[in-house]
Amino acid sequence: MFPGISYAQVQNQKARIGFIGTGGRGRSHLKNLLLRDDVKIPAICDINPVALQKAKRMMDEQGFEAPVTYGDNAYSYLNMLEKENLDGVIISTPWLWHTRMSVAAMKAGVYAGVEVSAANTLQECWDLVNTYEETGVPVMILENVCYRRDVMAVLQMVREGLFGELIHARCGYQHDLRAVKFNNGKQKHGGGVEFGENAINEASWRTEHSLYRNGDLYPTHGIGPIGNMFDINRGNLFTSLVSIATKSRGLHDYIVNHPEGGPEHPNAQLRWKLGDIVTTTISTARGESIVLTHDTNLPRPYSLGFRVQGTGGITEFDYHTRRIYIEGAGSSHRWEEMDAYLEKYDHPLWEKYGDYAEGSGHGGMDFFVDHAFVEVVKRQLPAPLDAYDAAAWSAITPLSERSVANNGAPQDFPDFTRGRWMKRENNFAPGDDY
Ligand SMILES: NC(=O)c1ccc[n+]([C@@H]2O[C@H](COP(=O)([O-])OP(=O)(O)OC[C@H]3O[C@@H](n4cnc5c(N)ncnc54)[C@H](O)[C@@H]3O)[C@@H](O)[C@H]2O)c1
Repeated sequence: MFPGISYAQVQNQKARIGFIGTGGRGRSHLKNLLLRDDVKIPAICDINPVALQKAKRMMDEQGFEAPVTYGDNAYSYLNMLEKENLDGVIISTPWLWHTRMSVAAMKAGVYAGVEVSAANTLQECWDLVNTYEETGVPVMILENVCYRRDVMAVLQMVREGLFGELIHARCGYQHDLRAVKFNNGKQKHGGGVEFGENAINEASWRTEHSLYRNGDLYPTHGIGPIGNMFDINRGNLFTSLVSIATKSRGLHDYIVNHPEGGPEHPNAQLRWKLGDIVTTTISTARGESIVLTHDTNLPRPYSLGFRVQGTGGITEFDYHTRRIYIEGAGSSHRWEEMDAYLEKYDHPLWEKYGDYAEGSGHGGMDFFVDHAFVEVVKRQLPAPLDAYDAAAWSAITPLSERSVANNGAPQDFPDFTRGRWMKRENNFAPGDDY
């Protein structure tokens, strides 16, 4: 139990969970929570009345009591945290709001569940850790890819030593986001080459990061799962990274070639700072390397490009191709299909909840991240993906920006655990509970 919230507040009661941000992602969390009978949603907050209305309608349709709504201004969430006696809050807002909203929640005694990434600067990473340590109220980074079925099966393989001693991993965020970064202010995906105040949803805030920043802007979908497998902050630590970025062509070409854009469009005159491919190599305290790719501006099918490699074998897996090589198991020098391994090492959580989870979003993994959050809030347990994870994973962005800006110069990671990584145990999803 953590000291920041009184046990009586939640014991034998439904968890009282509020929402800050009810845009696309906030409503997908909401959809999952509305299927549970152990939560109440007393209040929601969004500065966009349309997003608030949509969330209210969803609650009404599921027979939930109408929530108190907040959103008169960008700081209305502070009123909600102060007045609503919440146990937990799910934060699904633009990146620049994540840390200050999480910090405010912890200070108000409210368990924070924050979307990815959790922080933008090293100072924000420290703010998450320091506020957690000062208040005793946890923050959980809601990294759903950690709960993907194949990712969890590979985690089981790692834990059972199938790959021997781990040596190397690859991962990343390789997702053609051009139709997310631009729209026409009416439809969410595609249609138009506008961003900022002329656009809606992610194009209204995410795209500016590509204009002004050059680094790995979205590291956690790749590094979260690998961090768990490599015991980061729990027996292991990221020590340093180097990053290089290619030239930037993808966003400019998209604008020029789009039917609603063209070479004379004002956005075709912009110089995008984000390199199309940013490659980061991380070193760890135990002597492994991890290569992380950020690739969001070019035409390509989606892929997180996982590879996990050790002294006993290797796997490379994605949604479409999954292969494995374990020394002594199949024919030498030949990949095996992974299906039998995925079945044998299916994580107990997926064995238990898999059928139910399938419809919950992103192939089922969203059920598990929301389930974990509700369970730890209800039971007042530490976060399975905690302030130290949020800080170490999110720190990749500012460190990679610095490295890129300095010709690939190595950047040291702070030890956000202040030495406790040596003794902390890996407690991510140990069984079939959450
Ligand atoms: N884990 C995943 O698979 C996944 C998927 C999509 C998005 N995300 C993340 O979720 C977050 C939200 O993304 P989205 O797609 O929902 O974006 P969105 O633009 O659709 O929604 C963001 C919402 O936040 C609201 N908002 C902005 N500032 C606010 C403030 N000060 N107070 C209250 N509300 C405010 C906006 O009005 C909007 O409704 C981002 O961090 C994104 O990276 C994660």
